[in-house]
Amino acid sequence: MSAVVNVPLGERAYDVHVGRGLLAQAGDLVGPLLARPRVFVVTESRVAALHLASLRTGLGVEAPALELPPGEGTKDWVNVIRVVEWLLDQRAERGDVVVALGGGVIGDLAGFAAAILRRGVRFVQVPTSLLAQVDSSVGGKTGINTRHGKNLVGAFHQPSLVLADVDVLDTMPPRDFLSGYGEVVKYGLLGDAAFFGWLEANGPALRGDADLRVEAVRHSVQMKADIVARDETEQGDRALLNLGHTFCHALEAATGYSDRLLHGEGVAVGCALAFALSARLGLCAQEDPSRVRAHLQAMGMVRNLAEIPGDLPSAEALLDLMGQDKKVLAGRLRFVLARGIGAAFVTDAVPAEDVLAILRAG
Ligand code: GLY
Repeated sequence: MSAVVNVPLGERAYDVHVGRGLLAQAGDLVGPLLARPRVFVVTESRVAALHLASLRTGLGVEAPALELPPGEGTKDWVNVIRVVEWLLDQRAERGDVVVALGGGVIGDLAGFAAAILRRGVRFVQVPTSLLAQVDSSVGGKTGINTRHGKNLVGAFHQPSLVLADVDVLDTMPPRDFLSGYGEVVKYGLLGDAAFFGWLEANGPALRGDADLRVEAVRHSVQMKADIVARDETEQGDRALLNLGHTFCHALEAATGYSDRLLHGEGVAVGCALAFALSARLGLCAQEDPSRVRAHLQAMGMVRNLAEIPGDLPSAEALLDLMGQDKKVLAGRLRFVLARGIGAAFVTDAVPAEDVLAILRAG
């Protein structure tokens, strides 16, 4: 079972292939992009040990690789320099293709390096985590973190192709897989109640069933492609993809970006809090937040603040951290709230008192 989703962005349009065994088909899929039989692979050591050999065999062309250390800390200025200088050492030319093999960190970093090398070379995303397959590999957001915060430096640079091979998800630790699932649930909650219903029925079986994984990834990518096609640079609708993220970013900062709370776990808790806030403001039915939390519980995921290990700062301190989110516009907090499951919208008209009440209730 496999599928192709097109991201229709005119001359920057590209296909996202979602399916099984795509690493083995990489040569056929990437080949048409190549000006010469050579690509440059940027990856990290854990992923390289598992998948680099299969990718190279599938590509069937010269594929020198740069292996970086795993982890969020790699997404920094030092490694941008490292990637760019390595590509120049390798004599990468303007017409060459960089391949990002890894999760969101590698995709964002290699994509940013590709965006600035020789004023922009093409790149192919080969996402190896569920989170990267359904979110970060699609849509062209690239960048790094600085000491001022996450993703504050970057560029919109669309990939030329995305290969989301769901077989590589077999090697993901269960917790990381579930964290990525937080972004999958987000799509149902923000814009597709029927998909959320499908996830309620099929989510628990997803990890063990590759065909269900293909469908979950394909549907998520199609939803993202539709939104990105409407609003490539986040002037409007694309902000819907930030459902749960205002809460999430504050919680990630409060937990020190550590394994106390993985990004997708923070998104899941953030979605639950966004629905609780929506219900408190009378925007959606009182049952909706319970339905969101019931599904997260069925998946074995964190669903409220009390379940995050360790102490959290006060509600006031968390609200303050939200104020440092880059989604603040002219000093006003922007939230994605919902009029029901699958009916999200963006607003900056949320009284601080209501946010504090939700944070106190957890
Ligand atoms: N991850 C949110 C976006 O791509 O816009």
